[in-house]
Amino acid sequence: MTTRVLVTGAGGPAGVAVIRSLLRRSDLTVFAADMDGWASGIYLVPPAQRRLVPPGRDDDFVPAIARMVAEDDLDLVISTVDVELIALAGRRDELAPAVLAAPSAETLHTALDKLALAERCAPTGLTPRTVLAGPDAEAVDWEFPVFAKPRQGAGSRGVRLVPDRAALEALPGDEGLIVQDFLPGEEYSVDVIADAAGAIVAAVPRTRARVDSGVAIAGRTVRDPELEETAASIARAIGLVGVANVQLRRDRTGRAVLLEVNPRFPGALPLTIAAGVDIPSLVADLFLGRELPVRIPFREIASVRFLEDVIVEIDDVLVSDHAGHQEEL
Ligand SMILES: Nc1ncnc2c1ncn2[C@@H]1O[C@H](COP(=O)(O)OP(=O)(O)O)[C@@H](O)[C@H]1O
Ligand SMILES: [Mg+2]
Repeated sequence: MTTRVLVTGAGGPAGVAVIRSLLRRSDLTVFAADMDGWASGIYLVPPAQRRLVPPGRDDDFVPAIARMVAEDDLDLVISTVDVELIALAGRRDELAPAVLAAPSAETLHTALDKLALAERCAPTGLTPRTVLAGPDAEAVDWEFPVFAKPRQGAGSRGVRLVPDRAALEALPGDEGLIVQDFLPGEEYSVDVIADAAGAIVAAVPRTRARVDSGVAIAGRTVRDPELEETAASIARAIGLVGVANVQLRRDRTGRAVLLEVNPRFPGALPLTIAAGVDIPSLVADLFLGRELPVRIPFREIASVRFLEDVIVEIDDVLVSDHAGHQEEL
């Protein structure tokens, strides 16, 4: 008997990479789901294992996954989508007997709030000074420029360089912006996996040489103990169990400090997997209660990405209520 695993968010690069990784294991049966019938990763699995789910924000999302657990006899649920993770992690008991492969709701909430994250990680000494825009920010004796961004942002939306004090005072006070030391140096993404006790099994730094729609499509892994240790300290500070992507950037003195944590599978997973750390497979093992190796080494390697068309019979295209089938005007 195989272990039955559902992967949601099959339309995104992370979802595709997770599905591809898990399909290499003969002990797993992989179900692929998305809210959109046009999501490419759905078509990586056999027709009988393709599923549609409601949007993660929908009231019926968690109940729908729970029904799928019962009907498909699932053992493990893996989501690659932030909103879904938040919804599922708050109600993981409802998925029983399946296990949700995700960090605690507390870890997710901390990571997805850049102010809470900076405050939680401040004791590591590896964070830029970070405060709310408004009176808190105006009270600080900054070295300008400083950097402002939404407390709960993604994909670089709403980020801005603040050149001087006048611009700082002109920042809107009602948009949940945070103000932070400007980090002028190199930027790295570190893919981290922590075991059930929170011990770091691997931390793989990589560059994002080319980025498309917020996803790294070319880059290389970098062996650098400082980057690996910094990301590991951040992961420990937020109580990570499972996978997260820790973004670091060098400050004015050249030290790597925290930018943000994305508490989910990154879209650049194929590079990290090729470097030697098969994070989806390890996450599956972890949440199925299996022991992980203490430390997994990786090597320096690079990746580029191209598009690939998957041809599907018309009758095999799943038609979802929620998205993707109405021609936009
Ligand atoms: N303190 C900072 N100094 C310099 N650049 C920053 C700073 N914070 C963010 N950035 C830039 O903005 C981008 C997006 O910020 P990030 O914190 O990663 O949020 P998100 O990716 O969720 O939008 C970063 O990749 C980086 O280029
Ligand atoms: Mg980012």
